[in-house]
Order: sequence, then C-alpha cells, then structure tokens
Amino acid sequence: MPDRTVVGVDQSPEMLAAGRERVAAAGLAERIELRDGRAEALPVGDGEFDALTFTYLLRYVDDPAATLHELARPVRSGGVVAMQEFGLPHGLWRPLWELYVRVGLPAAGAVVSPGWREVGSFLGPSIRGFWSRLPESRLLDLWRDAGIEDVEARRMSVGGGIVVWGRRA
Ligand SMILES: C[S@@+](CC[C@H](N)C(=O)[O-])C[C@H]1O[C@@H](n2cnc3c(N)ncnc32)[C@H](O)[C@@H]1O
Repeated sequence: MPDRTVVGVDQSPEMLAAGRERVAAAGLAERIELRDGRAEALPVGDGEFDALTFTYLLRYVDDPAATLHELARPVRSGGVVAMQEFGLPHGLWRPLWELYVRVGLPAAGAVVSPGWREVGSFLGPSIRGFWSRLPESRLLDLWRDAGIEDVEARRMSVGGGIVVWGRRA
C-alpha cells in the first residue's frame, strides 16, 4: 500500500512510546501516526478510513457490543474491518493448550522475573473467561449488530487463534 497512511490507537503511553520507536526505526514516521485513545471513544472521525484492524483488544473491554459499534464507525461503507484474538483449541489440542497456559507460560515467565510470571499466569484465565462470556456465534452476531456485513471467521493454529473480518455496511 505505497501511498496509504495509517493511524494506530492505544490507551497505553508505554505501548505508544515503544510503537513510535519502531515506526521511526523503520523510517515510516510520515505514514504511521500513533494516537493516544480508547477503543470505546476513538479519536477519529466517521467514515474516515478504508479499513480498520484490531488485535487482542476485545478481552479487555467492558462492553464488546458498544466497542464494536465504535470500531466500525470510522470505516467507510464497503471498507474492511478485521480482528485477531486468541482462541480456545478443541479436541486433543485443548489439554495440551491447558498444560501450556497453566504450566509452560508461567514457568517461562518465572525464568525472567516475578512480574513476567504474573503475565504468564494471566493469559489462560483471560482467554477462557472471554470465550465463556462471549461464545463465537454470539461474537459474530455482535459484529453484524455493529453494522458489519459478510462476517466470516477462521480459526488458526489448531484453534489457538481466530481471525474475524467483514465489510462495513
Ligand atoms: C495484548 S496488547 C496487544 C497490543 C497490540 N494490539 C498487538 O497486537 O501487538 C493489548 C493492548 O490493548 C490496549 N488496550 C486495552 N484496552 C484498551 C482500550 N479500551 N482502548 C484502547 N487500547 C486498549 C492495551 O493498552 C494493550 O496495548
């Protein structure tokens, strides 16, 4: 996308600072702007963008339905909206995933520091909790309710990840 410009939004000053460093190092500061803001009230106008993506966000918001409306708002009619999130593997992969998030990740974090152990312990309950509050079929309904059409989902990496996309009506 040679002539496109990108606006990124995050509520964390630390995340934005790290992102700005990477953008500058890649020589993309003129094309990529990072703004301080919340997904629930994006600092952008209606229909301003050709596409919008968000990654690992919905697990953190209190009201996914309202947030999805807000995420669709800045996209022009026909523009693509897409998200990526962790998923819960099914079948034989599930016990392996449970072992990974209950033992592997916390142990790997503990090697680095007590803080990273906490981070490693957080992910499993966060992913499980999200999908128990919002099963996949309900999530896709929320996308449609937010004014997004042709909604599709694909599970990736034996179900450990999910990508959802659609077009703004
Ligand atoms: C797991 S990180 C993912 C970061 C990045 N999107 C990526 O994929 O690498 C989750 C990010 O969501 C941000 N976040 C959480 N809730 C948010 C909200 N309501 N509005 C904006 N950003 C939020 C956090 O600050 C954090 O940077």
